[in-house]
Amino acid sequence: MPTPKIAPSMLSSDFANLASEAQRMLTFGADWLHMDIMDGHFVPNLTIGAPVIESLRKHTKAYLDCHLMVTNPLDYVEIFGKAGASGFTFHVEVSKDNWQELVKQIKSKGMRPGVALKPGTPIEEVYPLLEGENPVEMVLVMTVEPGFGGQKFMPDMMNKVRTLREKYPKLDIEVDGGLGPSTIKTAAAAGANCIVAGSSVFGAADPAEVISLLKTSVNEAQKATIN
Ligand code: DX5
Ligand code: ZN
Repeated sequence: MPTPKIAPSMLSSDFANLASEAQRMLTFGADWLHMDIMDGHFVPNLTIGAPVIESLRKHTKAYLDCHLMVTNPLDYVEIFGKAGASGFTFHVEVSKDNWQELVKQIKSKGMRPGVALKPGTPIEEVYPLLEGENPVEMVLVMTVEPGFGGQKFMPDMMNKVRTLREKYPKLDIEVDGGLGPSTIKTAAAAGANCIVAGSSVFGAADPAEVISLLKTSVNEAQKATIN
């Protein structure tokens, strides 16, 4: 079973205090820090780029799980590698012709390649990226339309997670969008093990409690599958 990873989405943090927000989340039990990179083109929102990753890297050794919602991911591999990104997850919708080159470059810069898909994209589209010599190491199933935090979880996406989990028992499967105490059980039961959560963690009175609940739910769902 792949290890549970809870990844608070720093999009919901106070960007003016990014380093301390990151440290706060790690102290609260976060495994990864999810970094949403948006170019104002692939999605209608503009967030952060490599310089911010580079600054944050100076303050933490944490795994920086970078989710690139950009039209030309290949253009960013080198600078994100230099900046200190740990994971580089690109969208399949914009990478059908060059994913092999992308994966090769991402690995050569010492990052872990992942592929993300929007709610309207069928799961079959990521299958080629999981086969062959140079597969991606994580699939991020979007459970909201990419672009903004605080949206409603789309339970229909769980069919994709279930299908993927059946086919790839050891794969890291990440869910992103609308995850929190009220939706985690559905996602964990479907087989997701990497959980991104923005507003539910940052908006909680006790973020540590939410992080712990998310992790417990994944652990319990995994145990239930074994038994
Ligand atoms: C949305 C981003 C998410 C977002 C999740 O495009 O990819 O990572 O920050 O935020 P919540 O958990 O608030 O839905
Ligand atoms: Zn994201």
